[in-house]
Amino acid sequence: MQTIIAVVGGTGAEGSGLAARFAKAGATVRIGSRNLAKAQEAARSIGANATGHTNADAVATAGIVILTVPLSAQVETLKSIRGSFAPGAILVDATVPLEIAIGGRLSRTLTLWDGSAAQQAARLIPGVPVVAAFHALSAEALAKLDHPLDCDALICGDSAEAKAAVALLAASIPGVRAIDAGPLDNARLLESAAALLISLNLRHKVKESGMRFTGVPKA
Ligand SMILES: NC(=O)c1ccc[n+]([C@@H]2O[C@H](COP(=O)([O-])OP(=O)(O)OC[C@H]3O[C@@H](n4cnc5c(N)ncnc54)[C@H](OP(=O)(O)O)[C@@H]3O)[C@@H](O)[C@H]2O)c1
Repeated sequence: MQTIIAVVGGTGAEGSGLAARFAKAGATVRIGSRNLAKAQEAARSIGANATGHTNADAVATAGIVILTVPLSAQVETLKSIRGSFAPGAILVDATVPLEIAIGGRLSRTLTLWDGSAAQQAARLIPGVPVVAAFHALSAEALAKLDHPLDCDALICGDSAEAKAAVALLAASIPGVRAIDAGPLDNARLLESAAALLISLNLRHKVKESGMRFTGVPKA
């Protein structure tokens, strides 16, 4: 049976971009929101393969749950969905812990007690394998559905099976190459690299900077 993808915070820029790409690739996508009508509207704009739900309902039947909310909403959102995960489901955390969450700069990261936003997520949902991914996939680029991305997707996690499932999903986006970037402990590096991309966007007045790595095999 095909894996169902839930995108929690799927009404936002990053979540709706990922959801639209995965739906276009043929996946069944459940858009999650705090507000059912908002989720349904976001799903309608994606069209085929997407439906709208409250966050907890979106999660309940999904094999892969992607979290795309701002850092300031990460803990509260995880607490609201952690009782809803199906057995064997994976959480993909795309949170970039930016200083703007506490009124600081957009291109700086915050140091979190757990080491990274993804490790913070893992602490909040014990028993669910957590994978850190998609930090470097620009929402602007994702939204241009007819254009392939020009970007590698680094994937960290402590479960090889979970990373393989997320790598397969990432590679369903044209132009994306998935790369195994090691254990979840490396998530801080992915999150910092995303802040670097934001800094490059600001400096060069662009919106779609991305990353390509050489000399490493795809996942
Ligand atoms: N934008 C990018 O290019 C990009 C790239 C890589 C990673 N990311 C990361 O992906 C995450 C989402 O980024 P984004 O740009 O898509 O953010 P966003 O559009 O500001 O927010 C995404 C969704 O999160 C929910 N949300 C917002 N504030 C909330 C709050 N206070 N409490 C609970 N839910 C709240 C909203 O969903 P509902 O109102 O529908 O509940 C919103 O649509 C961030 O952690 C970001 O660092 C972004």
